[in-house]
Amino acid sequence: MPRSVLITGASSGIGEALAREYATRGWRIALVARRQAMLDTLATELRSLGAPEVITAELDLLDTAAIAPCLERASAALGGLDLVIANAGVANSFAAGQGKIAEMQQMIGVNLTGACATIDAAVADFRRRAHAGQVVGITSMARYRGLPRLGIYSATKAGLHRYLQATRMEHASAGIRVTELAPGYIDTPMNRDIPNRPFVVGAARAARDMADLIERGVDQATVPRWPWTLMGRVMQVLPAAIVSRLT
Ligand SMILES: NC(=O)c1ccc[n+]([C@@H]2O[C@H](COP(=O)([O-])OP(=O)(O)OC[C@H]3O[C@@H](n4cnc5c(N)ncnc54)[C@H](OP(=O)(O)O)[C@@H]3O)[C@@H](O)[C@H]2O)c1
Repeated sequence: MPRSVLITGASSGIGEALAREYATRGWRIALVARRQAMLDTLATELRSLGAPEVITAELDLLDTAAIAPCLERASAALGGLDLVIANAGVANSFAAGQGKIAEMQQMIGVNLTGACATIDAAVADFRRRAHAGQVVGITSMARYRGLPRLGIYSATKAGLHRYLQATRMEHASAGIRVTELAPGYIDTPMNRDIPNRPFVVGAARAARDMADLIERGVDQATVPRWPWTLMGRVMQVLPAAIVSRLT
């Protein structure tokens, strides 16, 4: 039977591109996001690209109680999940001191609690089925360094990085693989209003790289690897004055 993947944030950007990539690779696919109409349109396209089975699920990751039941239903419908990609995310840019608590809560809720709950549900599903599945968390270059006006975003991605690190050790003996992918600038609606996006690449190319890295079962990688692997190291040691100037 072809392998199956569940992708959160599949209605746009990287998630949508990953769904197309897995369709052309012949996987069975569960598309998850809030905008059901966009998932339905994408599902029709994916079937024409060669996906043997596509299902959709409307889910708001801020509704944490709905996350595990959503994954359980998708797993049952597809006869078990092999791969779960916790991709959904939001990025609001603002400096501290403006009382933007609702924006903070939204980012923490989607990028951290929502992603961790997705990963938790995936691991529970794999363990219930005694299946050596794989779970992927999409972090960011911002997980390497707290960036000005992206403080909460950076914090959610650093937090997700640590959660993935711990989960990898907890379930390695069961054969469950945990992969972290940290994108640089990928051309998606999330960042189209940013005038300067160094080394930006298209979402289709990024999705191809990501699917290859996932297939290889890497623990963690930047996307694309060049120049972001080097940048990740440099970002951790650059003096704050230089980081401020560059960002
Ligand atoms: N693009 C980049 O350069 C870049 C760089 C580093 C990291 N990333 C990360 O890559 C991931 C994907 O980003 P993207 O660039 O593809 O962004 P995007 O085009 O804005 O897509 C974000 C996705 O997240 C979903 N989402 C947002 N809030 C949600 C909620 N409350 N519940 C469920 N789903 C929700 C959206 O679906 P609905 O609105 O339909 O719910 C959408 O499908 C994110 O985790 C982001 O942080 C992106």
